Amino acid sequence: MALSKFLLALAAASGAFAAKTCNVLNYGGVADNSTDIAPAIMSAYTNCVAGSTTSNPADTVLLVPSGTYALQTAVTLTNVADFTIEIDGALNLVFNASLTGTLFSFDDCNNIVWQGSGTIYGHGDLWRPGGNLGTYPSRPRLVRFQNCNNVDMSGVTLNNSPMFHVTIIGNNNVAHNMQIVADHIGETDGFDMSGNNNYVHDVSVENGDECVTVKTPTDGFVAENIQCFYSAGCNIGSFGNNVTGVTVQNIYYKNITQHNGDGGIVLKSYPTASGLVKNATYIDFTFTNIAYPIQVSDFWCPNEACPPTTGNLTWEDITFSSITGTGDNSTRPIIDVECISGYECTGIVFENVDLTKEDGVTATITVSNACGSGLSQLPAC
Ligand SMILES: *[C@@H]1O[C@H](CO)[C@@H](O)[C@H](O)[C@H]1NC(C)=O
Ligand SMILES: *[C@@H]1O[C@H](CO)[C@@H](O)[C@H](O)[C@H]1NC(C)=O
Ligand SMILES: *[C@@H]1O[C@H](CO)[C@@H](O)[C@H](O)[C@H]1NC(C)=O
Ligand SMILES: *[C@@H]1O[C@H](CO)[C@@H](O)[C@H](O)[C@H]1NC(C)=O
Ligand SMILES: *[C@@H]1O[C@H](CO)[C@@H](O)[C@H](O)[C@H]1NC(C)=O
Ligand SMILES: *[C@@H]1O[C@H](CO)[C@@H](O)[C@H](O)[C@H]1NC(C)=O
Ligand SMILES: *[C@@H]1O[C@H](CO)[C@@H](O)[C@H](O)[C@H]1NC(C)=O
Repeated sequence: MALSKFLLALAAASGAFAAKTCNVLNYGGVADNSTDIAPAIMSAYTNCVAGSTTSNPADTVLLVPSGTYALQTAVTLTNVADFTIEIDGALNLVFNASLTGTLFSFDDCNNIVWQGSGTIYGHGDLWRPGGNLGTYPSRPRLVRFQNCNNVDMSGVTLNNSPMFHVTIIGNNNVAHNMQIVADHIGETDGFDMSGNNNYVHDVSVENGDECVTVKTPTDGFVAENIQCFYSAGCNIGSFGNNVTGVTVQNIYYKNITQHNGDGGIVLKSYPTASGLVKNATYIDFTFTNIAYPIQVSDFWCPNEACPPTTGNLTWEDITFSSITGTGDNSTRPIIDVECISGYECTGIVFENVDLTKEDGVTATITVSNACGSGLSQLPAC
């Protein structure tokens, strides 16, 4: 026997890998693509996981084994901790006009591992007939961890949610090594992150809205090795009309590629929002055909003229470093920095930023009410 096999056998015999598995097939789950899997997941939690966890989430595994399942209602787990949910099957969300909320919702949770080789198919196109986002405005979202800490999310592919894919709110959470693939349409956000010291790495997102984006409040966020296709970018915001108390700081993105998107790095706010975003660094980005490669704007008002400026949202100490590639063929500026008069953005730094236009036309840069270094348009502070 090879030494490694011997050690495995020994470990198994000594019970070192004695994880408790709570298989949904034993709690009413049927892999027939028609029985709703959600009640079986809830039952497996209540009747098998609950009360039998240890401090190690690997010891207690709620398993959806390979097979094809229907998903018709929401899985909502509140005040849960210390277990693994492993989805190896394919889950098909069944169209239902009354379905709202979030399909996998974890509230007040700690130390949860989400993993598996499966896929959740949201069939989002059915909630967007003819590409219309207004037909079912309360259509469901896929996964949300709210007030959750120490979550480790990976694996399971998320396919075409009716709305946003992943929202994580809490501290010390990680999402990694997973894929999101959706229609190239709005309101299909990939990862919306807020809280402290969260980390997203080695993920790819194809969609038509946020790729990996930071929301308020956040203190400490890192994103690395990200690929975005057709997305609206790796952004901060947006901060909407009259939002107060925005506080985002200590943000670091590195090694990001983005193809064919509306936005690359877009730091966006209405001119009526207030608060402070400071210390964000963007390094090693490669863009291809991005409508707004770099934009820092207090005048970001989608689908309407901006209301009169009453806010004071300020962007401070933002560094763009080693950023190359192309903006799209429109006349939009490749770099646009627009801050509020009287609340100038300070410490806006560009180093080794080499952006051109797809069609080789002159790339324009616009700057107002900001200071920093690295662009001739940007005055020193
Ligand atoms: C499962 O059902 C969905 C409709 O809810 C369908 O789109 C999908 O093709 C089915 N999958 C299989 C493997 O039959
Ligand atoms: C549709 O969703 C609503 C709300 O969750 C639920 O009450 C209803 O039973 C569902 N209908 C079907 C056919 O699943
Ligand atoms: C950059 O990210 C890509 C994935 O997008 C990965 O394959 C590559 O290894 C990363 N490079 C470094 C230097 O980490
Ligand atoms: C924002 O505040 C202004 C001034 O107080 C008010 O007129 C406007 O209705 C508010 N807008 C929204 C969307 O709340
Ligand atoms: C800025 O943020 C980075 C990344 O989060 C952090 O390492 C660094 O200490 C912060 N700098 C300051 C001055 O707070
Ligand atoms: C920004 O606006 C908010 C809300 O009106 C206010 O509380 C805060 O003091 C203002 N900050 C600055 C720096 O003017
Ligand atoms: C942009 O314009 C160039 C030159 O006309 C063309 O070769 C290229 O295909 C265009 N790119 C896109 C994405 O339309």
